[in-house]
Amino acid sequence: MSGAPQDPALPSPPAAASPAPPAADRPAAVDFAGVTKIYHAGTPREAVAIRDVSFTIPDLPDKGEISTFLGPSGCGKSTVLRMVAGLEPQFPPTVGSVRVLGREVVGPGADRGMVFQDYTSFDNRTVLANVTFGLECRGVARHTREREGREWIERVGLDPVRDALKYPHELSGGMRQRVAIARTLALRPRIILMDEPFGALDPATRLDMQDLLVRLWREVEATVLFVTHSVEEAVYLGDRVFVMATTPGRIASELHMPAASAPARETQNQPWFHEQVSRLTAELERIEAAAERPAG
Ligand SMILES: Nc1ncnc2c1ncn2[C@@H]1O[C@H](COP(=O)(O)OP(=O)(O)O)[C@@H](O)[C@H]1O
Ligand SMILES: [Mg+2]
Repeated sequence: MSGAPQDPALPSPPAAASPAPPAADRPAAVDFAGVTKIYHAGTPREAVAIRDVSFTIPDLPDKGEISTFLGPSGCGKSTVLRMVAGLEPQFPPTVGSVRVLGREVVGPGADRGMVFQDYTSFDNRTVLANVTFGLECRGVARHTREREGREWIERVGLDPVRDALKYPHELSGGMRQRVAIARTLALRPRIILMDEPFGALDPATRLDMQDLLVRLWREVEATVLFVTHSVEEAVYLGDRVFVMATTPGRIASELHMPAASAPARETQNQPWFHEQVSRLTAELERIEAAAERPAG
């Protein structure tokens, strides 16, 4: 069970299906139980990043799910994501438990892959060498990793011959994020963590990347945790949207959305989409107004 309130009143959109129940014997993909993170605890710089955060993202058989995390700056979105990744200093939590696929997180692992907002490619490696980096670290033979690398380059919409030998500085922002996605997916993680990955892209490229993500996610059947500032992006991509609030960082609500069944540009014209966007925008405005009011 999640600690966040469920929203009961969802309009029924076209092709909408309520989320499939997870198999009873499968551990959750991600489970937070009473997680608090306090930086510099016991010093004058003490800062509570998140307090008592609990939620469960089920591991849907042969499907996976995209959960989006939406909230004002500083509400702890990156903290939550990096805790799942097992990355310091966000990990470990000060209090509470973070479990992935039934096991307590003890650090980074091959079952989780992360894509960041800033383009994290190695500048001195070609696209192919960037995409195959993780496979190389795993000791996969050159022939195999280059074949797989080219396949992933093609799947993310780049040219497996021409683009493969380019260097990151020769690529646009959108192309670089395609490389980052290919590099992460080549390792076939069960959980994919994305921290505002499209935040620096222009609006048109962003919609293309959203479509790409939906297509790839169907193919790899992974569970995606996706942090965004954009209400539209959270509604389009999210099967599940966690709305977060600040001071302290916490989950304010958890909503279920219909799965993305049409391209982003088409979906943006659908009435249910507008309805959900307005509703979430209003909720965020309430959260931001509450954060500005002096306590008391
Ligand atoms: N390493 C750190 N040391 C101290 N405070 C931090 C650190 N990282 C994050 N914080 C604080 O924790 C809160 C949540 O941060 P973060 O998870 O980055 O939020 P978001 O990603 O939602 O913008 C913020 O108030 C931030 O200032
Ligand atoms: Mg952040």
